[in-house]
Amino acid sequence: MVGIWNIVLTLPVGFLILSYVKLLWTRSRYPPGPFPLPLLGSLWWVGLRLSPDSLAKITKKYGSMCTVWIAHYPIIILSGYQTVKEGLINHSEELLDRPLTHFAVEAFNRKGIGFTNGHIWKEQRRFGIVTMRNLGLGKQGMEYQIEEEARRLVEAFSQKKGEPFVPSLLISNAISSLISVVSFGYRFSYEDVMFRKLMDGVDTMAQFSVSFFHVLYDFFPWLMKYLPGPHKDALTFMQEALSFAKEEIKKHKECQDPHEPQDFIDFYLIQMEKSKGDPKSTFSEDNLAQSILDLFAAGTETTSSTLQWALLFMVAYPNIQERVYKEMEYVFGSSHSICYQDRKKLPYTNAVIHEVQRAKYILPVGVPRRCSKELKMLGFHIPKKTLVVTDLNSVLSDPKHWDTPGEFNPNNFLDKEGNFITKEEFLPFGAGARACLGEQMARMELFLFFTHLLRAFKFQLPEGEKEISQEPVIGLSMHPQPYKLCAIPRSIL
Ligand code: HEM
Ligand SMILES: *[C@@H]1O[C@H](CO)[C@@H](O)[C@H](O)[C@H]1NC(C)=O
Repeated sequence: MVGIWNIVLTLPVGFLILSYVKLLWTRSRYPPGPFPLPLLGSLWWVGLRLSPDSLAKITKKYGSMCTVWIAHYPIIILSGYQTVKEGLINHSEELLDRPLTHFAVEAFNRKGIGFTNGHIWKEQRRFGIVTMRNLGLGKQGMEYQIEEEARRLVEAFSQKKGEPFVPSLLISNAISSLISVVSFGYRFSYEDVMFRKLMDGVDTMAQFSVSFFHVLYDFFPWLMKYLPGPHKDALTFMQEALSFAKEEIKKHKECQDPHEPQDFIDFYLIQMEKSKGDPKSTFSEDNLAQSILDLFAAGTETTSSTLQWALLFMVAYPNIQERVYKEMEYVFGSSHSICYQDRKKLPYTNAVIHEVQRAKYILPVGVPRRCSKELKMLGFHIPKKTLVVTDLNSVLSDPKHWDTPGEFNPNNFLDKEGNFITKEEFLPFGAGARACLGEQMARMELFLFFTHLLRAFKFQLPEGEKEISQEPVIGLSMHPQPYKLCAIPRSIL
């Protein structure tokens, strides 16, 4: 008996020691970083979670390419414009993959766009890009839909009659409705039970993915699979959201008009039909359902948090708000409607929107990548499959490239004559072959919502309140702390 226990105990301990020895042995090949302790890795130095602050601290000490050890696994951090650009653009091919944790595999089953690699990813992504472009075309295309939704949001704000209210829920409802229009071809009422289930599913998943339980699941998948806990809830929510998407797909199949595809599902079903004979085709209902959830997950909270920051800054800087309003008045008067193309005639307004995205970037760390091949960069040879995190926040606040990195200042995007200038260092959507798939849509949304709202209302703090906190809540995204504002209709001012 003693013999068996010896083996049972010494095996894992022996394994631990071996893996730590291997770590010490290979450590010199990786970029520098805080000294890793057995089991803990560099967590004793960085804290439990990678946040903008802990990343800034580590890169300040160890440089723009450094290593953080999570237990005995290395994560390479790239930060600052030069290094991130070199990683994402010059080494795009080596950084194509996403790390798929045990949990991600269980939840997403290697389907969709955001959490797939290789052939599936390539095919689903290419289709996604082309289809987003197709949906943007035509008179009733995406721009029209966004304007419609912006008008609805203006209507919802005006129902508050200038009284204080919390804008965040109305904003995120509008943004998720738009993804719904893009995916399903119609909007849902915000109270629709099934639609709420879909959104809750996406939210729960997002919350879980940055929780400690996710790490736990990854270290002990064989154990966690059988234990109750938040991971089980997240998986259940995910299943419900998926079955909602599948229900929609079924409805589309029943009344599909192959000549007039209107939404993501329509285009996808046509593609499925086309590639029926191709044995290597990855077009399937499962991939479609997951792709749709990916659009919801990636396209809701990001855009709506950015808009919440935009309104917050307008309240905090009334002079800037007034200048935006004056510019729109001056160029277009109050009757002419503003379309996306008009951003070129509104340099100041456009600069303000860019500055919002820069000054309060909504992702705490970049979406992680994994080396799809060996990565040879800055003199290091990073083995295949190593995790790489690009710190996009550090790019947007890189003191070498921005005059006032820590301050809200639209001049970051204006030249001396007040013309808008495009900045290469503006990388909120990432870069390279795996960059954001919804960039065009997001840019259109931000511009159209912002201009519609600022033309209709003057935003200000509720009476008696002096200040509005600019400290973010750090979760999956970095959104403002819940705040109230008053939307005073311009028509009565
Ligand atoms: C302000 C809004 C947004 C920001 C800041 C943003 C930012 C990002 C970033 C940084 C990535 C990771 C890129 C990388 O790995 O380097 C990403 C991926 C992605 N985004 Fe966005 N995004 C926004 C809105 C949207 C919207 C509206 C959609 C779709 C409707 C969308 C769909 C996606 C998808 C599907 C991916 C995964 C792409 C892949 O893995 O191939 N995003 N986004
Ligand atoms: C990265 O690519 C750019 C443009 O292709 C090139 O000018 C630059 O020298 C490359 N950087 C490195 C370090 O190879």
